[in-house]
Amino acid sequence: MRERAQAVDPQLRQRRERLPPGHFHYYATCHPGLEEVVAAELAGRCIGAANIHPGKAGVSFTGDLVVGYRANMWLRSAIRVLQLLGETLLDARRPAGEEVYAAFRESAAWPRLLAPGQSFSVESRVWSCSNLSSSQLLSVRAKDALCDAIRDARGTKPLPPEPGRVADLPLYCTAYHDRLSIYRDMSGASLHRRGYRQAMHRASLNEAAAAGILHLAGWHQACRQEGAVLADPMCGSGTFLIEAALMATDVAPGSFRRWWPFTQWPDYDSDAWRQVVAAATAARHAPAAGVEVWGNDVHQGALGLALRDIQAAGMQRMVRLHHGECRDWALPRPPGLVVANPPWGQRLLGGERDESGSGFYGGSSGSEGAGDADLDWWNEPEGAAGERQRQQQPGRGGRREEAAAGAALAETWWDLSAFLKQQCAGASAFLLSGNPEATKGLRMKASQRMPLTIGGVDCRLLQYSVRGMDETAAGKEKKPAAEERAAR
Ligand SMILES: C[S@@+](CC[C@H](N)C(=O)[O-])C[C@H]1O[C@@H](n2cnc3c(N)ncnc32)[C@H](O)[C@@H]1O
Repeated sequence: MRERAQAVDPQLRQRRERLPPGHFHYYATCHPGLEEVVAAELAGRCIGAANIHPGKAGVSFTGDLVVGYRANMWLRSAIRVLQLLGETLLDARRPAGEEVYAAFRESAAWPRLLAPGQSFSVESRVWSCSNLSSSQLLSVRAKDALCDAIRDARGTKPLPPEPGRVADLPLYCTAYHDRLSIYRDMSGASLHRRGYRQAMHRASLNEAAAAGILHLAGWHQACRQEGAVLADPMCGSGTFLIEAALMATDVAPGSFRRWWPFTQWPDYDSDAWRQVVAAATAARHAPAAGVEVWGNDVHQGALGLALRDIQAAGMQRMVRLHHGECRDWALPRPPGLVVANPPWGQRLLGGERDESGSGFYGGSSGSEGAGDADLDWWNEPEGAAGERQRQQQPGRGGRREEAAAGAALAETWWDLSAFLKQQCAGASAFLLSGNPEATKGLRMKASQRMPLTIGGVDCRLLQYSVRGMDETAAGKEKKPAAEERAAR
């Protein structure tokens, strides 16, 4: 039945026939809104992928095994790299569980893909299918099929992964409009887990999203020019700063990682991977003369985190940190670019969940990353700005608290506005926001609004051309009292 279904699906047949031997179809998943950025990264000389097609929350491409290795090493803005193992049309007239089971058994030579003693996992997404709506059913039947295939071949069933660890063979399946696609997940843990973070913190921006935003802001090109400066006046744990410094020195984002699932696979080409690692090491260079990234934050604890991670990434010579309210931050010269994600009343989650709704977003426990524990600077901020931050957290009480939180938020954006106008004349500013009310405090008109989904939140990356204003003029701009603004 399936063979017949496949035979009449010209799209599936075409996809199979197009590839030379030893080449694969891949899919790089990403935050919705960053597809074009990921496509540009894939087309770059570091990866050299072919047949690049941006989709929804990801980009498909083709290449040999080395292209897959390079994609894992060099993609800054993607979440994971999936290698297609098989694709089939589900027959809507048959029970869904049976169809999935049969499709899985036929789609790959499982005993050749899973060595004895190795573990596997299955993560699934289902949407818009005629006869299948449960991703759990898909995962369970896929596991049954794979276990049976291995048991028939070897007499023993394969192992589940150890708790908290990525499986040797993480599988990722999608069923979309009755088309079942089965992938091997080459990345295992999300690619945003670079390996330079000493501790994962929930207030930190996802590194892959940060890199994508920097690309949209043009830093990947600007950083090649002598004297280029990028500033983040609310840098928190320094994600933009570190990612910007890595870009300016061509440090591969994957070069910090010590473990990749594909190095456990029977078809692992260790020579090819060694060459990819060696090429990444050789690509590193000093930044162009005078290229620097500057960061500021009102919270000393955040800066402590930033410093540790900057050092772990080896970027301390490029990054300057400053402690204080952004409105008081005096820069030695105006930066060309300002990139920031100021508080806007809602925290972005780490970004390992399926936020696209398209199914391409794997949560993987991985084994990296510490908990929040004693680094909870977001929840215990200091001083007046700390009070503002406390108030800016959602769900903190009744209407009065909400009004106070709104006023505090407006004041934060007001301060940011003062910083931009006084210190950054002529700069392009790119600010991430998920709250149009909060951005009103800026009193500036965005020239572009780029939609992005991060942590399941619909955001905009707002672009501003900053016109200067001296301190006297800025001082004359009436800053409404917090209560006055709360009342609006
Ligand atoms: C959403 S977090 C930024 C997270 C950061 N991008 C990261 O990856 O860690 C917002 C930051 O703004 C800082 N902040 C809030 N008001 C500020 C002000 N007036 N001046 C400077 N920093 C401020 C907070 O301390 C917090 O670190």
